[in-house]
Amino acid sequence: MRIDELLKTRMEECTNSRVQQAMEYSLLAGGKRIRPTLLYETVKGYGLNEACADEFACALEMIHTYSLIHDDLPAMDNDDLRRGRPTCHKQFDEATAILAGDGLLTYAFKTASLSHQNLSHVVTCMKILADMAGPDGMVLGQCLDMQEEAHVTDWQALRTVHHFKTGCLLSAPLMIGAVLADQDEHTVEQWKETGMTLGLAFQVQDDWMDVRETPEQLGKSNSDARNEKVTSVTLLGEEKARALMNDLYEESIARIERTGGFESSSMVSYIKQIQNRTK
Ligand code: IPE
Ligand code: IPE
Ligand code: MG
Ligand code: MG
Ligand code: MG
Repeated sequence: MRIDELLKTRMEECTNSRVQQAMEYSLLAGGKRIRPTLLYETVKGYGLNEACADEFACALEMIHTYSLIHDDLPAMDNDDLRRGRPTCHKQFDEATAILAGDGLLTYAFKTASLSHQNLSHVVTCMKILADMAGPDGMVLGQCLDMQEEAHVTDWQALRTVHHFKTGCLLSAPLMIGAVLADQDEHTVEQWKETGMTLGLAFQVQDDWMDVRETPEQLGKSNSDARNEKVTSVTLLGEEKARALMNDLYEESIARIERTGGFESSSMVSYIKQIQNRTK
């Protein structure tokens, strides 16, 4: 995949050290690469060459990988397996895993700053990255997720947690792609909503797979039950969660197909692939 080659090069340009090895270990372990792929699909749908989005594609995957490394720490979900390998803190140690997350987050913004696109677009995209990843975005969602036992008792409340912890990092690639394609603010907001719907579908599916699949199939620990998490499955039951997931995927696809000036077929077929995935 294009993104894998780019990430490899970026890591080769980083000073070799224990933290660099831990960053590389988690970043190059694979993963579905959904966020970079969504960004590439967005610019392609607007008729641009995917190369224009390379730096932001790398930045998104670095931020996402950092979120996974920290999510797996003993203080959070306390998991042993990620992307088919021992989690970063198991392979290295907790201090190194914390630093690997810090390193990936910072290196993501360095990488984004290397973009040669229109300067004002680059600044707007970096702001989107920060908003969607930070304390108004994914970090807020992870904070709510950790407090959820105390607060979440219904689907509407859980929806808010999912919106921030997962929706934000799926909206970011769609918004950034639209900015790079010179779309207006209103259109970028529309893409944000589409990403939130998609993110909700994706997290409901993740919750569902956590109870239905083995760690071997998933390549990651399935710890929601052990952690007594409130999830879409515990609140709605497996069947309703599955139906909701399909409704949300269909809603996001309908939104994409309605987007003016956007050639949607390739992105829609990619999203259907995600919807029908088994791991
Ligand atoms: C896992 O994300 C965390 C969630 C938001 C559910 P992914 O399922 O995209 O993880 P990778 O990148 O494929 O490992
Ligand atoms: C985490 O959600 C979402 C992130 C922001 C990392 P989960 O805790 O459900 O993700 P997995 O199941 O460990 O991948
Ligand atoms: Mg978690
Ligand atoms: Mg987790
Ligand atoms: Mg999960």
